[in-house]
Amino acid sequence: MWAVRGLLLVLVLVLAQSDPQTETPTEALLAEEGQPCVRGAGPRCGPGLECFRANKKSKTGVCMCKSTHEVCGSDGVTYKTPCALKSANNRRDQELQLEPVTVKGKGRCPSAPLIVTPPGEVYNVSGSQVYLSCEAMGVPTPVLTWNKVSPRVELLPGDRDNLAATGWLLISPLTEAEQGSYECHASNSQGATSAVGAIHLVQSLEDISVKRGTHSDL
Ligand SMILES: *[C@@H]1O[C@H](CO)[C@@H](O)[C@H](O)[C@H]1NC(C)=O
Repeated sequence: MWAVRGLLLVLVLVLAQSDPQTETPTEALLAEEGQPCVRGAGPRCGPGLECFRANKKSKTGVCMCKSTHEVCGSDGVTYKTPCALKSANNRRDQELQLEPVTVKGKGRCPSAPLIVTPPGEVYNVSGSQVYLSCEAMGVPTPVLTWNKVSPRVELLPGDRDNLAATGWLLISPLTEAEQGSYECHASNSQGATSAVGAIHLVQSLEDISVKRGTHSDL
């Protein structure tokens, strides 16, 4: 009955359903995170939670976790708060009678890097400024490095002074020597992954739309 719904709906329900019998809270009446709480009557917030009211005068509020940091569970899942982990355990108990999840550590669970924005392909003329971008997610934050992988393998930035490499690979001015494929490599303590993009030199700006349209490689 106390399923989490829109806050207003919940508050309306609280006012409508508060009856004298709920005044003595038992274990079963302890509210979970996000559920309503009423001063002096009705459900009280469970352990680790406090009743948060919009203002001092209002009688009803919502149970909020006292700690607001994320935690990593023994199931490898990141929970928004320690209370969210506890709530998940309560549901697991009832449904499947599984081993309870314990807190493995404060903060997000460690995870291997995942490249969310791989470098694409760019076409431009000699002397122009081009860049490839790469974005990776992971815990801890992945370290990004770039390698040129064709026509020859080259660690970047190497000794090139027209090139800067961070989350972006910026080349200015573009010369024939920079044509080729570039690999964005993301690594952290949990693993490593990479994705490849390419830079193409074209004769004139008119070639860019043509090259894009036909997907031809230089
Ligand atoms: C091509 O080079 C010009 C001049 O440097 C630059 O303004 C433009 O953004 C570049 N286009 C692409 C697709 O990189």
